[in-house]
Amino acid sequence: MYNPESNRLLQDILSRSGKSGKLDEHFLMRLSANFQDIFNYFHTLYPLRNDVWDHLERLVNVLIDKYLERDKDLKLVDKKREGDPNWILSQELVGMMLYVDRFAGDLKGLKDKLGYLEELGVNLVHLMPILKCPEKNNDGGYAVSDYRSINPAIGTMEEVKALAKDFKKKDMVLMMDLVLNHTSNQHEWAQKAREGDPKYQGYYYFFNDRTVPDQFEQSLPQVFPESAPGNFTYIEDVNKWVMSVFHNYQWDLNYTNPEVFIEMLDIILYLSNQGIDILRLDALAFMWKKVGTTSQNLWEAHLLIKTFKSCVRVGAPGTLFLAEAIVAPDEIIKYFGEVQTTSNECDLAYNATLMTLLWDTVATKNNRLLWSTMHNVPHKPMGATWLNYVRCHDDIGLGYEDQHAEWAGYSPWHHRQFLINFMVGNIDWSFGRGRKFMEDKVKGDARISGSLASLAGLERALVEKDKDAEALALQRIVMLHSIIVSYGGIPMLYAGDELARINDYSFEEDPSLSYDNRWMHRPKMDWKQADLRKKKSTVEGKVFTELQKLIKIRKKQKAFADSEVRHLVDCHNQHLLAYVRGEGNKRVFVVVNLNDHPEELKMDMMFHLGFDMKKGVKDLYSGAELDFSGYKYTLDPHQFIWIIQQ
Ligand code: GLC
Repeated sequence: MYNPESNRLLQDILSRSGKSGKLDEHFLMRLSANFQDIFNYFHTLYPLRNDVWDHLERLVNVLIDKYLERDKDLKLVDKKREGDPNWILSQELVGMMLYVDRFAGDLKGLKDKLGYLEELGVNLVHLMPILKCPEKNNDGGYAVSDYRSINPAIGTMEEVKALAKDFKKKDMVLMMDLVLNHTSNQHEWAQKAREGDPKYQGYYYFFNDRTVPDQFEQSLPQVFPESAPGNFTYIEDVNKWVMSVFHNYQWDLNYTNPEVFIEMLDIILYLSNQGIDILRLDALAFMWKKVGTTSQNLWEAHLLIKTFKSCVRVGAPGTLFLAEAIVAPDEIIKYFGEVQTTSNECDLAYNATLMTLLWDTVATKNNRLLWSTMHNVPHKPMGATWLNYVRCHDDIGLGYEDQHAEWAGYSPWHHRQFLINFMVGNIDWSFGRGRKFMEDKVKGDARISGSLASLAGLERALVEKDKDAEALALQRIVMLHSIIVSYGGIPMLYAGDELARINDYSFEEDPSLSYDNRWMHRPKMDWKQADLRKKKSTVEGKVFTELQKLIKIRKKQKAFADSEVRHLVDCHNQHLLAYVRGEGNKRVFVVVNLNDHPEELKMDMMFHLGFDMKKGVKDLYSGAELDFSGYKYTLDPHQFIWIIQQ
């Protein structure tokens, strides 16, 4: 609804800025269309501040200044994407996340290795933290000391800008991290706060004594209870406590202070102006804190993201947000915002729910928990999409809802115990070779570290020189990827998994890493090993070639776009995971055998779904016609079929 008050304010701000003459009609149109939301959100976030309008004025000036600095080419990209907002749903997108230094040494090296990514079919690359951070105590780069500089060991901002240009030419998409929730204690703001500057102490949550921290601690969970217990750190220089929910060197930013919001907005637009297509908003569930709550997923955190989103819609509409909210299934979905069509928060979100459930299927070989969860998770908005992944640089949290486990016929606590023990190989027959991460011995809870291949049984098979187990593990690795490729959303591979890299235990020798066993699944790329992909008979060759094939087929198959529907199909066999993608005779019926034994798909299912069995059906993946002559089709262990009508 038109609000004359906000409109008047905007006109005043524009005329005071003296820059309206330099602004184009696209920007002005977007500004007036979004300003009312920004105005309302800001007022709701900061209701008690009498200086709220001054801050709003500063905010608009940041939007103007950053837009005036934005390159012409990027403005063209903005226009193109505004005209085709569903570009992100395309089946042609396939991503990979990688640490630049571990993958290619530095940004120059990465440029040389783009051919490798293209060979696999990857066209969206997530550069894991590349901003400046301390040499040690940096949480893999998630403790940023300067948001406007690149880690010098990796390269320069000019190189990032040039890389973004190369990407655009190749029709590739560039993503990078933005850690909004906290900075490193080495950041200039933190340094000034430590020197006693009240302005910068106000950028963080500083407390004179333990009174408020103790109140917080009553309800705040701990993220790293083993390596970083507690949520506050004592700063001797000023005799105060600062909030540090992650590590003690990662200080939480205080967004109840609008100055922090504006600083971060400036940074978002600055990075977007370097040509970054997607910003991965790290740990965004934690962005607002309140005594008496878990300080996760609070409505104010959502409002902050909505405000950032509205601002980006004005200043850099071609730039998208990815939500890194590894929280309960019902909470993740909220980071898309609450609209049905396009998102008003993040455009993409990690599908942590699917990821966890995939590991559940690996351990149980059945679809029960996946089925009961997926049927009860609300739908995402149509214009937003999932980032589907099997592994990433972080641990795996078994974050499914207890109720869904009960509906699947499990006792939630015992089932979690089973999964943990399975994944770390504490059960005789288990092939998982993970490790517990941040174990809570009292509750018997833990998250899991470990590489995809090691968790999927390859490490054990190689150690035991068991060829059958090796073949099964490889098939399992490909099967898991086949699901993220076909399920709906962007498949995001984790560098190293395309070569079935097993755990790397060298982190144990490095005292700066040994406290964090997530490093066991963050191996340095071994380019000699990568060469083995060219030999089909090797482990690397088998996995790389199959993934390449999966990607190739996905890109050509419109039914795999996220604009197409998906519905899960009950094949009356708990070992089969099945879903239909797309509609009519263009649809694909995906059937996955989760079991390490053969399983049957009954022909009734095919009739039920309306396939014309006289004409016959074909597996898009193998290209073979499927033989239902015994009124059933038998899938090999971990085989998957992508059925289409002949
Ligand atoms: C995110 C990152 C994780 C990091 C944390 C704190 O969850 O993925 O690696 O430790 O944020 O920044």
